[in-house]
Amino acid sequence: KIRDKRPFVSRHLVMIRVLLLVALLAVAEARRPLFFNGRPKGGFVNGAIQRSQAAADLFPGQTLSNFTQKLDHFNPIDTGRWDQRVYYNPSYADKDKSSGQDIIFLMVGGEGEEPPKWSGDPKVQIMQYAATYGAVVYDLEHRFFGMSRPINDMKTESLRLLTTQQALADLAYFITVTNQKMGYSNPKWITFGGSYPAQLAAKMRSKYPELVAAAVGSSAPLHLQLDTYGYAEGVQQVLEATPITNSQGKTCPDLVREAFDKMQQLSLTREGRKTLNAQMHLDPPFDDNTNKHDIINMFANIYGTFQGMIQYTYDGRSEASKYNTTAAELCRIMNQEGKDPVDNVWDLNVYSAAVYGEELTSFANNYTAMIEEVKQTDWDLLGEDGASDRGWTWICCNELGAFQTTDSDTVFGSVLPMGYFFDMCTDMFGSEINATYVRDNNSASQVYYGGEDYFDATNVILPSGMFDPWHMISYFNTDESKNLITLKIEGAAHCSDMYPEYDGEPKALPAARQRIREFLTGIVYDADHPQKSASSLSLTVLIAGIVAKLLM
Ligand SMILES: *[C@@H]1O[C@H](CO)[C@@H](O)[C@H](O)[C@H]1NC(C)=O
Ligand SMILES: *[C@@H]1O[C@H](CO)[C@@H](O)[C@H](O)[C@H]1NC(C)=O
Ligand SMILES: *[C@@H]1O[C@H](CO)[C@@H](O)[C@H](O)[C@H]1NC(C)=O
Ligand SMILES: *[C@@H]1O[C@H](CO)[C@@H](O)[C@H](O)[C@H]1NC(C)=O
Ligand SMILES: *[C@@H]1O[C@H](CO)[C@@H](O)[C@H](O)[C@H]1NC(C)=O
Repeated sequence: KIRDKRPFVSRHLVMIRVLLLVALLAVAEARRPLFFNGRPKGGFVNGAIQRSQAAADLFPGQTLSNFTQKLDHFNPIDTGRWDQRVYYNPSYADKDKSSGQDIIFLMVGGEGEEPPKWSGDPKVQIMQYAATYGAVVYDLEHRFFGMSRPINDMKTESLRLLTTQQALADLAYFITVTNQKMGYSNPKWITFGGSYPAQLAAKMRSKYPELVAAAVGSSAPLHLQLDTYGYAEGVQQVLEATPITNSQGKTCPDLVREAFDKMQQLSLTREGRKTLNAQMHLDPPFDDNTNKHDIINMFANIYGTFQGMIQYTYDGRSEASKYNTTAAELCRIMNQEGKDPVDNVWDLNVYSAAVYGEELTSFANNYTAMIEEVKQTDWDLLGEDGASDRGWTWICCNELGAFQTTDSDTVFGSVLPMGYFFDMCTDMFGSEINATYVRDNNSASQVYYGGEDYFDATNVILPSGMFDPWHMISYFNTDESKNLITLKIEGAAHCSDMYPEYDGEPKALPAARQRIREFLTGIVYDADHPQKSASSLSLTVLIAGIVAKLLM
């Protein structure tokens, strides 16, 4: 009898657990903003995606499998292994007959589940390049994101294994093993990435130049700046470049400044906060127990709406980024004359949520509740975006910084101080991860990777959109002698060069993609020995000089 009952009981338990999970996930959706610590749902370049487990989700020619990855590359006695997901697509493979070389593109996964598109969709630029150069394409999911889980949970002690150094070593080990397994002769690996993974793609050239021939890093925030106040300046630049017609001659930045001034003033008094409760539909409303974190959290989420629209403005990433979440639409809504500036901000939030398919009726405003969601350490309780938000914030607290404050003079006032992010690191990861830790680790990472002005690599191209606020911490020191090329793409946003082309896209994009192709042509066809051709050129110059001297 007991036996008969068990399945029934356990089935019930499973059902309760599933319901609980669904309820928790629903809550999670409600409390976290669409844009958390700079990261939109789905990650910086991917957009919202569907889990790809089924072969049906894959593109023709593409496979998804597991690579047996090392748990800890820097502990020689550690024998831990785990399954890292990797996409593989040999559709365009066309071994270059002239040199007998294998051209291999490696898309570097980032702070979210890796979607099939980068190694499957023929319209994205990496696949367009793969078709031209006959490249095999791999795409390796980043450790701790998507289904690539090195360890059972996301406790802080487990996250010690989530570092950029481990991620780079994952890529290096993957390349080494794949070269052997596939028997690649004279392989030429080229790493690609957008946003955070663009840093990794580029750093593969500085840290593992023997394995990787070249890197294409789109919108790579190579300066590991702790307090990234410049991001807000970047947003402001886009607003300044967006013309509007206003009967009082106000500009778009004027209108944004007016709204933020007003909201900041209101936040200072109890009466003012009541007004904000109503105008911003705050849930829960500010009351006598409201603390500074709740107030800053409201500003962080409002600022997030501005970030989410500007960062992808006019991108070919999705229909929304082409036509809806654009600087022009943002300025149009902020310029509804005759409406209160704070009401315009509310309208902007409603509009931006609607574009992502969500009907916004209230604005989540409980810092503690938000932190509780991303403080979970269980993969299932966190859910895909919760886990990615937690992992991404860990990388920022532990190494990168990249905290998007309003610590310089911009239209956003001073609503988002660095201290808020220090507290967030501690609240999410424990008392040990305090301001001293975050600052020291960020400094150590800058030293390890070369700091602000120093990036020592050859054969790297770094395109950046100038409408991408992250360009403020991109790297722009072109050095032709090292074939280290940086591109400023006017009017383009975050990673714009990676997406499919579309009619009406920013005018500077085709030329930028053409420059990337020239770079790739150089690598694929005659950059086998780039130093050699450079030095033989200087030898010629030297000989010519000597001859000239002798003739005089
Ligand atoms: C990859 O590994 C994960 C986790 O170990 C497993 O759930 C999944 O089924 C594996 N996928 C394939 C294609 O082997
Ligand atoms: C997005 O823009 C397109 C083109 O202007 C428009 O047809 C569509 O209704 C907009 N969608 C939303 C959600 O505003
Ligand atoms: C905020 O969330 C916390 C944690 O869930 C909860 O204890 C608290 O009551 C909430 N505050 C308000 C004002 O609802
Ligand atoms: C952070 O914690 C360390 C010890 O873990 C301590 O020495 C340091 O003073 C703390 N820093 C701050 C800003 O609290
Ligand atoms: C961060 O700091 C801790 C404690 O000092 C140290 O063990 C760890 O190696 C640091 N991590 C990085 C990536 O610098």
